[in-house]
Amino acid sequence: MEAHIIEWLNLSVRWIHMITGIAWIGASFYFIFLENNLNRRHRLRPELAGNLWAIHGGGFYYLEKYKLAPKPLPEHLHWFKWEAYFTWISGVVLLGIVYYYNASLYMIDSAVAEISAPVAIALGIFTMLLGWLIYDLLCKSALARKQWLFALIGFALVTASAYGLSQILSARAAYIHIGAMLGTIMAANVFFVIIPAQKAMVKAATLGEEYNPEIGQNALTRSIHNNYLTLPVLFIMISNHFPSTFGNTNSWLVLAGLILVGAGVRHWFNLRGQGKKNFWLLPAAVLLMLSLVYLTRPIMPTIDPAASNAAVISDAEAMEMLNIHCQSCHSATPTSSIFTVAPKGLALDTLSQAKANASLIKAQTVNTKVMPLGNSTQMQDSQRQLLGAWLDRLNTSTAGQ
Ligand code: HEC
Repeated sequence: MEAHIIEWLNLSVRWIHMITGIAWIGASFYFIFLENNLNRRHRLRPELAGNLWAIHGGGFYYLEKYKLAPKPLPEHLHWFKWEAYFTWISGVVLLGIVYYYNASLYMIDSAVAEISAPVAIALGIFTMLLGWLIYDLLCKSALARKQWLFALIGFALVTASAYGLSQILSARAAYIHIGAMLGTIMAANVFFVIIPAQKAMVKAATLGEEYNPEIGQNALTRSIHNNYLTLPVLFIMISNHFPSTFGNTNSWLVLAGLILVGAGVRHWFNLRGQGKKNFWLLPAAVLLMLSLVYLTRPIMPTIDPAASNAAVISDAEAMEMLNIHCQSCHSATPTSSIFTVAPKGLALDTLSQAKANASLIKAQTVNTKVMPLGNSTQMQDSQRQLLGAWLDRLNTSTAGQ
């Protein structure tokens, strides 16, 4: 019953997280689009910075951006902040439901480090907090004015964090906590910098005072940082579906590559929006993706099924292996106290079920060591190789049929 309730909690919070995340990032993309596409020259009233006509959903829209606060201030001013706050809050709750609640399985991999669940959880939370503190300090330092150097150092620090976490936490927990750290930076930018800056602007306008333009500039910088983080964070949030990324021996390097691709593509969009043509960014991103495909190729030495038949286990032996290492969770009747229903609906009780899921099993157990979860059953590399050879032979024998 408990597992059932947790599943529905997971479902509800994940749903909310997605909805608020889409609303937040959608608004962020939309305002960057506006900024880039405002008409800034043609027949503008002097108080305007720009305007824009658009058609959407069967209607014409007309929008104006003011250089300074309008006088008088409008009665109804729309703010965009709850999307950000609720995305962060739901994200942290989800982290709790999925990772902290079953920390010994999701956060810890004894092959990586023998740590206790509270230590793993504390490290996760510490990463999010420290990430924000360091980032915020860097933003307030002279470095913030040197955009490219800032980006470079920021990227190096994120990569170093990914490396550090991958040496202590389970691979999937390391990934998600880099995502959580970047997401925390984004939400904290909204909460601690952007919204307070806007409040100061509104207050000054209400009192008829001048405000320091640096406040607005500062908020814009943070907003731009958030914009570059969106694509990398979005990937990390779905990375769990791709064992060849977080399950790679150099998972941190793969993540660094994907972050570069995400930020690079975002940069291409931003340049394009500003009417600047760029020819190399997209091809470079594609090239980097291809090198990641190569870097993450399966490397577990497999046994050639044709060459050494003796080394290939029988169907019964393979099923025995799945029984020992998988069926506590992946079964119609799991014995695990945590998973009372087979995770992802994947049951491996029968030979035909194992055959039908051969490539999935290979991806998670042989090409990477993502399964068994947290290597809770202590599956050895030699066993993985044998299972891999057996799975390969399944492939060749089906191909021959
Ligand atoms: C302690 C429980 C547990 C054990 C033992 C376990 N798994 Fe899993 N498995 C899970 C969970 C939980 C997931 C879902 C992970 C996620 O949310 O990404 C999963 C996901 C999978 C998937 C991905 C399914 C899909 O549709 O994406 C495969 C394949 C898989 N496991 C194979 C195995 C194999 C093979 C073994 C044994 C060698 C094994 N697992 C042992 C808990 C377990």
